[in-house]
Amino acid sequence: MALDRKPAPNDLSAFWMPFTANRQFKKAPRMLVSADRMHYRTSDGRDVLDGTAGLWCCNAGHNRPKIVEAIRQQAGELDYAPAFQMGHPKAFELANAVRDMAPAGMEHVFFTNSGSESVETALKIAIAYHRARGEGSRTRLIGRERGYHGVNFGGISVGGIVNNRKVFGSLLNGVDHLPHTHLPEQNAFTRGQPEHGAHLADELEDIVALHGAETIAAVIVEPMAGSTGVLLPPKGYLERLREICTKHGILLIFDEVITGFGRLGSAFAADHFGVLPDLMTTAKGLTNGVIPMGAVLTTPAIHDAFMQGPEHLIELFHGYTYSGSPIASAAGLATLETYREEGLFERAAEMAPYWEDALHSLKGTRHVIDIRNMGLIGAIELEPIAGAPTKRAFSAFLKAYDKGIMIRTTGDIIAMSPPLIIEKDHIDQLIGTLREVLQGLD
Ligand SMILES: Cc1ncc(COP(=O)(O)O)c(C=O)c1O
Repeated sequence: MALDRKPAPNDLSAFWMPFTANRQFKKAPRMLVSADRMHYRTSDGRDVLDGTAGLWCCNAGHNRPKIVEAIRQQAGELDYAPAFQMGHPKAFELANAVRDMAPAGMEHVFFTNSGSESVETALKIAIAYHRARGEGSRTRLIGRERGYHGVNFGGISVGGIVNNRKVFGSLLNGVDHLPHTHLPEQNAFTRGQPEHGAHLADELEDIVALHGAETIAAVIVEPMAGSTGVLLPPKGYLERLREICTKHGILLIFDEVITGFGRLGSAFAADHFGVLPDLMTTAKGLTNGVIPMGAVLTTPAIHDAFMQGPEHLIELFHGYTYSGSPIASAAGLATLETYREEGLFERAAEMAPYWEDALHSLKGTRHVIDIRNMGLIGAIELEPIAGAPTKRAFSAFLKAYDKGIMIRTTGDIIAMSPPLIIEKDHIDQLIGTLREVLQGLD
């Protein structure tokens, strides 16, 4: 790492921090100044083991030479190129590389700058696709309770995390929600996919009966819901959703912003579960989190429906200034090469049983009411403090950071998703420290 110690900024007031308890943070800042492979270095010179791959995004770990070098080179060669009506080679190369890594059938790639933008893009493509085929009445979007699809208006409308929605007005109209699949009474402490809950997909039939299939454009779900606390799809659930969507001509969108690029030990959750959606949203691991970038993947059937009419006309009135930008494309190419060269998705699959055993060894530890895992992702759910939900998990997060591990919390759930380069002794450190933290919590 470059420097052992770096000064902290002395005025923290201007930066309104995202998804942060700003007042708490600014009283006791947690400042990261450098990172290498599995560790962050703090401004007070401590190493912190990264148990979350940043924000579920640095799948190859930090400061990876190939990615750093690709960005450096690209910045000196072609810093920016207009994204509309112009191209540059690396965006095409990256689209091809993503397609080659994706499940068969996902042939086209639309670039964005984040998971939230990928979600908005997929929802818009879904609605416009039906219209292009003469089914303009299909405008409804179906999400799921506890779903997280980023923070833009489409995403929070189909999303189901109440705090992310409730103060932002009336949102998109024509949205309905499936029930979530979290059934702790039947499924607590399940390793991998839970047994119970496939029937919850059948609720889609009721939604179709209520609104009419001819009004519904798409269903969007996370194949494995990460941000809401690692909720795994019950066995048979995704298959059933796919069947019902196909039966009614509804598009199925998998939000793979977290599950994409190896998190479950396969390139995508669609591969892992053997269920192919019509659209997939990605971001995060696409560039190892280093440069903002997202991508929506889709099938020839959807893409080709837009490729009609006079050829001088724009087919889809949508895109971003930075869609497929040169530096992000270079970072994406180097990232995918790093994953491939180091066999990181296979590595995640190999390490998953050790990860699972380590996580589940916390069963019986103070406050723990459920443990869930799959691939290199895991959640430990804590009994909330009566009258003060989220406080216990937040205290765990603060104590864990003091003891040298970075975890993430959502509600009273601790979620972990380490870089796929994690070694067994890192797992031991992560889980051992967490055990101490939990035992010491009120
Ligand atoms: C499933 C899912 N969709 C969308 C997003 C939003 O991504 P971003 O924060 O890059 O906008 C996230 C972020 O965690 C996510 O987990």
